[in-house]
Amino acid sequence: MPEGDASTRADLDARAGEIESAVRILRAGGLVAIPTETVYGLAADASNPAALRRLYEVKGRPLGHPVIVHIAGIEALPHWAARVSEDARRLAETCWPGPLTLVLPRTSAAVDEVTGGLDTVGLRVPNHPLALALLRAFEGGLAAPSANRFGRVSPTTAEDVRADLGSDVDLVLDGGPCGVGVESTIVDCSEEGAPPVILRPGGLTAERIEAILGHPVRQTSEGPSRAPGMLPAHYAPHARVLVVEDLEAARAEATARVAAGERAGLLTAAAMTAPSGVMALVAGATAEAYATTLYDRLREADRLGLDVLVVVPPAAVGVGVAVRDRLARAAAGSARG
Ligand code: TXA
Ligand code: MG
Repeated sequence: MPEGDASTRADLDARAGEIESAVRILRAGGLVAIPTETVYGLAADASNPAALRRLYEVKGRPLGHPVIVHIAGIEALPHWAARVSEDARRLAETCWPGPLTLVLPRTSAAVDEVTGGLDTVGLRVPNHPLALALLRAFEGGLAAPSANRFGRVSPTTAEDVRADLGSDVDLVLDGGPCGVGVESTIVDCSEEGAPPVILRPGGLTAERIEAILGHPVRQTSEGPSRAPGMLPAHYAPHARVLVVEDLEAARAEATARVAAGERAGLLTAAAMTAPSGVMALVAGATAEAYATTLYDRLREADRLGLDVLVVVPPAAVGVGVAVRDRLARAAAGSARG
C-alpha cells in the first residue's frame, strides 16, 4: 500500500468528514478527483446527465466517448448490466476490486452520457480504500475517466491532478501515489456466446485473465469508436517520445539528438550512465515497477524541459504489454506536436 494511503480503519475514520463532503459535492452535480490503484479518476454522479456534461467539458473530451462507471461491488452489477456472461462473472468475482473494466450489455440506468450512445456499459470496482469508502457512502455509480485533460498523461498523484485540472475540480481526495500506475484492462464480455476481447491492455495481464478463464482471449485495438483511450495519439507529454527497442541504438539516438542541439533524455528500466549531455531517467527493473513509474517519468521529461525523450520499453509480457501500448500512443501523440 503506498505511503499516505488510507489503508487502515483508523485512517478512514479520520477522513470520514472528507468523504462526506465528497458525497455532498457529487450529489449536487460536482466533480471530485478520486484515487484508484491504477490512476486518479475524475468522478461525477453517473446518473446525472448535467454533471456528466460538465465532466466532459472539464476534461476537454469530445462528447460521444463512453466513460467507465465505478461501483462499490459486484452486487451493483444487475443495476447497470442487463446480462452478465459466465466469463464476466468469473472475472468479476476473482479480480474485483482490481484493475479490470468489464464491458457488458447495459440497462436503462446507463444513460447515453455514460455510454456514448453504445448499447454497452464499462464497469469496474477500484481497489483503493478511499475510493471504496466513497462509493459505499455515495450509494450509486461514479463515472470516472482519468483525471487529466484529454490526450495528456494520466495522473498518478493528487498533485498531478491539481497541476492539470486546477480549480476546475471541486475536491481532490488524496490517496497517495497509485500502486499500479497504468489504467485498468478493458475486457469486452458483451457479445453473447463469443469469447471475451481485451479492448485495452492494462494493469490486469492477459496471462492472468486466460488463467482465470481457462481459455484464450482475443486482443484488439478495434479503434476510436469502441474505446477512445485507444486513439493512436494519447497519453502524450510535451516532449517528443521516441521508442527504441535496443539500448545501444537508443543511446546513439539520444546522442544524435543532443548533437542536433536538442535537450534529450533517455528512459530505461534500470539505472545506467547516460551518454554525455543526455538526461538519464529510470523507470524500474520489473514490468510492474516500470508501469508504476511510467507516467511520472513522462511528466518528469516535461519538468526537465526536454525536447525529446528516447525510451527503451519493457518486454511485451505481463503488464509490459500495457506499458508498451501507452508508450506507442505517447509517441504517436507527440509526433503530431
Ligand atoms: O483505470 C482506469 O480504467 C481509470 C481509472 C480512473 O478507473 N479510468 C480510465 O478512464 O482510464 P478513461 O475514461 O480515461 O478511459 C476509459 C476507457 C475509454 O477508452 C473508453 O472508451 C472505454 O474505457 N470504455 C468505457 N465504456 C466503454 C464501452 N461501453 N465500450 C467500450 N469501451 C468503453
Ligand atoms: Mg484516460
